[in-house]
Amino acid sequence: MIQGTARTALKTGASRFLSTPRVFQRTKVTLPELDWDFGALEPHISGQINELHYTKHHQTYVNGLNTSVEKMSELTDLLAREPTPQVAREIIALQQNIKFHGGGYTNHCLFWKNLAPEKQGGGQLPEGPLKTAIEKQFGSLDQLKTLTNGKLAGVQGSGWAFIVKNLDNGGKLDVVQTYNQDTVTGNMVPLVAIDAWEHAYYLQYQNRKVDYFKAIWNVINWEEAAKRFESEKILS
Ligand SMILES: [Fe+2]
Repeated sequence: MIQGTARTALKTGASRFLSTPRVFQRTKVTLPELDWDFGALEPHISGQINELHYTKHHQTYVNGLNTSVEKMSELTDLLAREPTPQVAREIIALQQNIKFHGGGYTNHCLFWKNLAPEKQGGGQLPEGPLKTAIEKQFGSLDQLKTLTNGKLAGVQGSGWAFIVKNLDNGGKLDVVQTYNQDTVTGNMVPLVAIDAWEHAYYLQYQNRKVDYFKAIWNVINWEEAAKRFESEKILS
């Protein structure tokens, strides 16, 4: 139990975090390396959009996640020394930041990896188990695109659509739509993630987001999706 002035010091602003020396350097998340140049997805997604999306928007989520996780670590330490409802409430409030920035970080990592220039195979669904599953469940790739585009068009505000392999349902494919930076976790293995935030298309498509949703299929990296489909684990 913490007594007297020591307890008071722990309760006063940032200084309360300074009493526990860090004994290791925390490794932070960073932007992933891209497999292509910013302009390589043109004309479907402009180089300007990709550059801003990657260097500004994704970087913001990277920074936000690192900051939030560091703060969580400090609060967890604090709770161990000062187990109070006040500290517990601070931890609960911080969870929203971790959910938002953590989702933004992981969703965009998925997004970059599941895009590929046409000259590198973008848009081409290779023969194999994924193609077989798509045709069995949806009839054709075009039907899956139509279903996904319908979910994307239904995003009111900002969100994502994911084509997933649902391990809770025998590994069947599913299309899941989320809001904000909510992501898919657990037994939903994401194969393809499509960003429906305005920052992903507005500079090029303005209010014609349906055209963006149609165009992006030309640069979907189905080879990566097939690799994820054939694995029981999330690869990135
Ligand atoms: Fe985005």
